[in-house]
Amino acid sequence: MTDDPQRDKLFEHEYDGIREYDNPMPGWWVAIFWLTILFAFPYITWYHVGKGDSVHDNYEAELAAYAQQLLATYGELEADEPTILRFMDDSVAMTGMASLFKSKCTQCHLADGSGNVGPNLTDDHWINVKTLTDIYSVINEGVIAKGMPEWQGKLTDTEIVLLSAYVAQLRRNPLPDKAPQGDPIAAWPEAPPPP
Ligand code: HEC
Repeated sequence: MTDDPQRDKLFEHEYDGIREYDNPMPGWWVAIFWLTILFAFPYITWYHVGKGDSVHDNYEAELAAYAQQLLATYGELEADEPTILRFMDDSVAMTGMASLFKSKCTQCHLADGSGNVGPNLTDDHWINVKTLTDIYSVINEGVIAKGMPEWQGKLTDTEIVLLSAYVAQLRRNPLPDKAPQGDPIAAWPEAPPPP
């Protein structure tokens, strides 16, 4: 390399007495530089525009799978108020239910519960619900005449109890997207202290 006539050739310019050589970056460095740029095009196309799952998507999917495994360990849950209240604050169970809600209920209530054909589940107005266990009954039996399907037989009883807890906690983050339907109801009772 030292016999390269270009090596250590000075640039013409000079700033405050400072001059610089015109030596190129080493080949391996330039190769990595171009490779990173070339790599970016398919990466951006697949992960940002295309179908590639982001790290966040993967995390959610893993958590949902874990929550699904946990379901088996809950056994048969009672469809009563203390059970629903207890699970409203169980973040793993609620993550699992968020994905169940997304796959079964989005069509009519939107993924965030703010309402589409079905009513907004995040506000304080409810048509068929006054207590926590009413949520369970509506999901279980549906309101067939009004277009809310029944889920008994399609989901397990434990899933419906947990889904009720998920729907109940949506009220903590009201989204005003769809106008209120039904009557305003009281806040849910306080959760009992952990046993
Ligand atoms: C095909 C559309 C549709 C799907 C799918 C659907 N819902 Fe509904 N849902 C409705 C409609 C319509 C109503 C309003 C019923 C009424 O007017 O009495 C409703 C009402 C409800 C209510 C009672 C709201 C209130 O104000 O009384 C709850 C709770 C509910 N849905 C939960 C769910 C859950 C959980 C799922 C998914 C497992 C789901 N829904 C899937 C259409 C749907």
